[in-house]
Formats: sequence, structure tokens, C-alpha cells
Amino acid sequence: MGASPPTTIDPRSEAFRANREAMMALLDEVRAAEARVLAGGGDRYVRRHRQRGKLLVRERIDLLVDRDSPFLELSALAGWGTDDPLGGAMVTGIGQIAGVECVISANDPTVKGGTSSPTTIAKSLRAQEIALRNRLPVVNLTESGGADLPKQADVFVPGGATFKNLTRLSAAGIPTVTLVFGSSTAGGAYVPGMSDYTVFVEGGAKVFLGGPPLVKMAIDEDADEEQLGGAEMHARVSGLADFLAANEHDALRLGRTIVRRLGWRKAGPPPRGPGAPPRLDPEELLGVAPADVRIPFDAREVLWRVVDDSNFDEFKPLYGSQLVCGWAELWGYPIGILANNGILFSEESQKGAQFIQLCNRSDTPLLFVQNVTGFMVGTRYERGGIIKHGSMLINAVSNSRVPHLTLMIGASYGAGNYGMSGRAYDPRFVFSWPNHRSAVMGPKQLAGVMSIVQRAAATRAGRDYDEDADRTMRAAIEDQIERESTALFATGRLWDDGIIDPRDTRTVLGIALSVTHSAPVQGAEAFGVFRM
Ligand code: COA
Repeated sequence: MGASPPTTIDPRSEAFRANREAMMALLDEVRAAEARVLAGGGDRYVRRHRQRGKLLVRERIDLLVDRDSPFLELSALAGWGTDDPLGGAMVTGIGQIAGVECVISANDPTVKGGTSSPTTIAKSLRAQEIALRNRLPVVNLTESGGADLPKQADVFVPGGATFKNLTRLSAAGIPTVTLVFGSSTAGGAYVPGMSDYTVFVEGGAKVFLGGPPLVKMAIDEDADEEQLGGAEMHARVSGLADFLAANEHDALRLGRTIVRRLGWRKAGPPPRGPGAPPRLDPEELLGVAPADVRIPFDAREVLWRVVDDSNFDEFKPLYGSQLVCGWAELWGYPIGILANNGILFSEESQKGAQFIQLCNRSDTPLLFVQNVTGFMVGTRYERGGIIKHGSMLINAVSNSRVPHLTLMIGASYGAGNYGMSGRAYDPRFVFSWPNHRSAVMGPKQLAGVMSIVQRAAATRAGRDYDEDADRTMRAAIEDQIERESTALFATGRLWDDGIIDPRDTRTVLGIALSVTHSAPVQGAEAFGVFRM
């Protein structure tokens, strides 16, 4: 046991209370959006679904996963701020089935017949990517009307990849299981078609390339749904169904049996132990981050409330101190951490690049904790080689092969987002706190840059610059960027895998880290050429 960490957070202070209040208000907004997703298609459709004797999507998932085991829902608020149904009429996440961590992808048939909008496609592609990168078996719970037809232009072509990915998962030795509860029509029929194992619910599953109306139109045949694509037909005649389930409960039981029979073993190393809880109270994470992302705070205060035993060993603490690097364990798994304590200078960038190489040498997964306004600009820093040094960090992040987890706890602006393994750098998971703000730069700076550019253009053209129009333009741009910088906006576009309650950080990262160990954990042999 080490000494207690030297925290300076005082839960009785005015600042703590104000931070906590602001965080709770943001969390309330997230909860309100989640409540909309939980309501599915609304009372009318939920009631109709139940009257048909069917289970709701989350009931199906509850019965599929091991009792009292956690289900880590992903992309819950996908589609936020778009005109697609919030959540994309689909639930995706990671659950444990017969002791095996699996990706679960389940249609919500109460929302527009479970049809696929662009959000549904993006969400299911992300779930498949998670399965492939982390080597997790996939279980689909299917009941969908296929493409949301009025949105077909944005669904048809990208949606094709969902079927391709299923067979590529299979080719990579990752099992795919589909339980069909209801309609799985047209392209949707390829979901069971491309799966290693299929279970069809008697009287429920309807799987055909063309439904009765299309068959009538195409070949003038009067077809009966059950004869054309019912569960029994597929189990006895076509052979598309491997198992005929008597009802939905039976299908879920069969799904569990299939996963148990896989004999699945994780390929990464097991944890070193159960992992002692942090000495500092995770409840206090609500009051660590100021409401205004421009006010800095010590990222160690977060780490001490997340990692095992609050035990964090710092690397190069006296050098490049605005990037905190070091080692810890999370639920017994070793992890290397890079956390921002301010802007990235040359020293910080080089230190980060070195640390990433060390963790790759020792096959240690990395956690990036982002609260960054970017790399330092200005004549002094350009002359000092900030581009070269920032490139070193981005090179190391891009070519690192150990699993990356990224946690957004405040600002994520400019190339700081890239250097700290933002979404485009393929971290295995990205989670955000509700106070997260992200954009190419801060709203004020961005509006100011636009104003300077336009003023210079007017001067060059010999025109007078309209100061009133400038003020209006700045306000409008600031407002737009402010709206586009929020955590909800980002999660709506799947730039993360979900917004989390800061108090759940340890649990969520722990599940994610465990999941990454389903695949082998191996560092990179080579990086790009580091420009010196
Ligand atoms: N695209 C867009 N909206 C669709 C849709 C689709 N493919 N399928 C269903 N919907 C809408 C319905 O219009 C309805 O909207 P409303 O309640 O606002 O009127 C809502 O989703 C629910 O549909 P409904 O038919 O009432 O539900 P159901 O549970 O009885 O049946 C289906 C669901 C999916 C079996 C049935 O709607 C169906 O067969 N749809 C067409 C499937 C198809 O041919 N798809 C081809 C895709 S490539």
C-alpha cells in the first residue's frame, strides 16, 4: 500500500459545489435523451408489440446475458440532433453470455418497424468494427423492416457493408450468431444468411428476399408469408435456420447454448488480480472538472479516482509537465496513461511519443485522457519545431498497436484530438463525460479567425469593412460552433461510443479494457520515421 495521493480537491469548497452542479445539469440532459431512447417507438407501438406476445428489445438482451452481469450499451444516443430516430432503432453493446464477452446488436421493432436509417447503419458498422478489432463473438437479435425506404439513398450503399462485415468476422474466426424474432426481409435476410449460427422463432421469424407483395409484382405469384419465409419452412425445407425455437424465450436460451458451445477463450493476458478500488472517492469526479472547459484542472485528480488503489507511477514528471504520463492498473490490468494538463508543447509531444513507444515494447494498453486545447502556436514555438514534435506524437499514436482507450473529460480542440488518439485514430473505445467539448478550435477563436480573414480580404480589395455585419457574423458563427461542440452533438455522430456518468468511469473503462483482452495484446514492431 502506497501513501494517499496528494489531492487538493475539497468537496466542501464553493468551486467543487459549482462544478458538481454544472456537471449534474449536463448529466440531466443526457438522462433525458436516454429516456427518449428507452421509450422506443412510444406507448402505442410498445403496447402493440406486447399484445403480439413479443419481448421488448431490452428484455431480450436481459434474458440473453448472464444474470446480474453488466451490459455496456454503446452509441445509445446515436442520431442525436439528426432527423433519424434517436438511438437508430437499434441497441448495441457488450454483454456477457455464458461467461463470454460478446457484441450484441439488436433491432428495436417498436421504432418504425426496426427499420435502418443512416444512424442505424453507422451504429451497426461501429459495433461490427468493435467485434472485429477486439475479437468478440457477435450475436444479432433481428427484427427489422430493412431499409427505411424514404431514406434509402443514404442507407442502401453503406448498408451493404453490414453483410460483408458479418462474413469477414466469420473468416477471421470470430463466431456470428443471429436470432431472428420477426421480419428480416430483403437485404436483411442476409443477416441470418451470413451468420455462422441461426435460430428462428416459430410463428415470428419471417425471412425472405422479397415479401408477398414483391413476389406478386415480380413473378405474379400469390405467396403465403409462412410458406415463403416462415421459421418452420426455413428449419425443415430451405435449411437457413439451424434451430427452430418454440418462442422468444426458447430462442434466447438456444442463443446462450450456442455461445457456451463455442468454447471461446480470450487471447490476451488475464488481469494480474482483482484490482483494489481507488483510495479517493469516485463520487468526487462530479466536482473535479470546471463547467468552463477553458479553466484547467489537474488530470491526476481524475486518475487517482479511477485507477486501482489510486496508484499512478509517473514517467518523466519533471519534463513536459503539461502531459502527464505514467503507469497504473485498472481492475488488475496494466495500463499506460497519457493525460493532458494543458496545451501540448514540443516537450510534451516528445515525452508522449517516447512513452507510447515504451508501452508498445511492453505490450501495455494505453489510456488517453483528453482535456486539450491543441498544440502551442506562435513564432517561438514554430521556430522550436512544434510541427516536427507534434508529428512525432501523432506518428506514435497512429502506429501504436496496443489497444487504445480514449476518455474525453473536457476540451478536445485542434490536432490535440489527433495526438491524443481521437476517434479518427482508431482507439478501441472512446467515452466522453457530459462536459466534453470538441471542435477544430474554440468557438471564439474560430469566429475571430473568420473575422480577420474577411477583414484582410476587404482591405486587399480596397473595400470598407462593415463592422455591424462583422459583429453579426461572429455571433452567428460562435453560436453555431458552440452548438456543434457539445458532447451530445459528438455522440449523435458516433464520434464516441457513449457519454458516461463520470462516476462510472472506472467501471466503463474496466469493461472496455477487459474486452480488448479478448484479442492478443501486442505492441508495434515499427513506427513511421520520426522526424528529428
Ligand atoms: N421504411 C420506412 N418505414 C417503414 C418501413 C420501411 N421499410 N417498414 C415499416 N415502416 C413504418 C410503417 O410505415 C409504420 O409507420 P407509421 O406507424 O408511422 O404508419 C411503422 O414503420 C410501423 O410499421 P407497421 O407495418 O405498422 O409495423 P408492423 O410491426 O406491423 O410490421 C414490418 C413491420 C417491418 C414487418 C412491415 O412494416 C413491413 O413489412 N415493412 C416493409 C418491409 C420491406 O419490404 N422492406 C424492404 C426494405 S429493403
